[in-house]
Amino acid sequence: MSAKTFYGFEDILCEELKKIDAIDVIKSNRIVHFKGNKEMMYKANLCLRTALKILLPIAKRKISNYESLYKFSFNFEWEKYFNKDSSFYINSVCFGKVFTHSLYVSQRVKDGIVDRFRKSKGSRPTVDKSNPDVYIDVHIDKNFCTFSLNSSGRNLNQRGYRKKTTEAPLNEVLASGLILLSNWNTKDDFLDPMCGGGTFLFEACMIAKNIPPNLNRKSFAFKKWNDWDQDLFINISKSLTKKIKETKPTIRGFEKSNNTFKKLNYNIKNSNFSDLISVSNIDFFNSKKNSKENLHVVINPPYGVRIGKELNKIYGMIGDTLKQKYQNTNAWIISSNFEALKGIGLKPSKKIKIYNGKLESKFIKYEIYKGSKKIKN
Ligand SMILES: C[S@@+](CC[C@H](N)C(=O)[O-])C[C@H]1O[C@@H](n2cnc3c(N)ncnc32)[C@H](O)[C@@H]1O
Repeated sequence: MSAKTFYGFEDILCEELKKIDAIDVIKSNRIVHFKGNKEMMYKANLCLRTALKILLPIAKRKISNYESLYKFSFNFEWEKYFNKDSSFYINSVCFGKVFTHSLYVSQRVKDGIVDRFRKSKGSRPTVDKSNPDVYIDVHIDKNFCTFSLNSSGRNLNQRGYRKKTTEAPLNEVLASGLILLSNWNTKDDFLDPMCGGGTFLFEACMIAKNIPPNLNRKSFAFKKWNDWDQDLFINISKSLTKKIKETKPTIRGFEKSNNTFKKLNYNIKNSNFSDLISVSNIDFFNSKKNSKENLHVVINPPYGVRIGKELNKIYGMIGDTLKQKYQNTNAWIISSNFEALKGIGLKPSKKIKIYNGKLESKFIKYEIYKGSKKIKN
């Protein structure tokens, strides 16, 4: 099988896979390959925090052009996996110089599928983008084409706790991976002082309590497969539930905007984490750390390009607030606005390159201690 992920998360995904006893775990670019049975496939979908989807490869071939891609699809025994009355959807990615249009790749594979069914069964399965019976994934790396069944369906970041959407929310897989990359020990208090819709807070909560991120998700593509084993799935879910820790981590968020705060509160109240996450409708710049607490801070500040100078000022105030009011803290900041990041003015102790969607971003660590110096830009 293969688990897809974001740039920079391959190593933590390998570790996650080894923890659930996957074997032959091998990382590649934004994807990790591994071996396991059906039980492993269910576990991977439920447990992996940094996986976007779990693919089951079903055919691989060398192809040279769009015509050979069509033939590969036409000759493949799709009827083993679905029938003429099913609906399907194809997602393609391609790397290399020959195949450059992923939409056209999807179209040619679709043509092969429908022509094959029409010829042998007299009618064809339909394409359904929103709720197909079968999700097909096509991956072309130079001349190598792999057809896979996507066992997850919709991407695994859709955990189900985001009831109301706020502005610029982080992808849940990205947020979880960043917390793991930040090496939070889960004992120190966790604070996101610009928490928006609270993605970091929800993910931190699940990490600290060892809650599988998709334990409460209802839809997985494998539930519509012929070999769907409900008893096996229920047993796995039960045994994972038993491993949830009793600990009560301290997880806090601040949010300045009244409107965002209302939605945040709604989402927390309507989740399973309402007794664990506490949020305040306050301005981070007016807050102060409790001098005794050990604190781990993760911040995703506004990064819009339009507000230019204003943004540099905000980043400067983040640096000042951390230095003056948050001593003895490990603080991590993710942003794609490199100009504004310079305005923080603190000495970074670690920088990690990641992508927030298409935006190249930096995830930067600042160790704030008494006497931390502001640096000049
Ligand atoms: C990029 S968004 C964070 C998105 C969040 N990570 C999520 O996944 O939903 C930045 C948030 O910081 C809030 N904010 C900006 N300045 C703030 C301040 N001084 N104190 C508290 N919150 C602030 C904004 O209202 C906005 O909701």
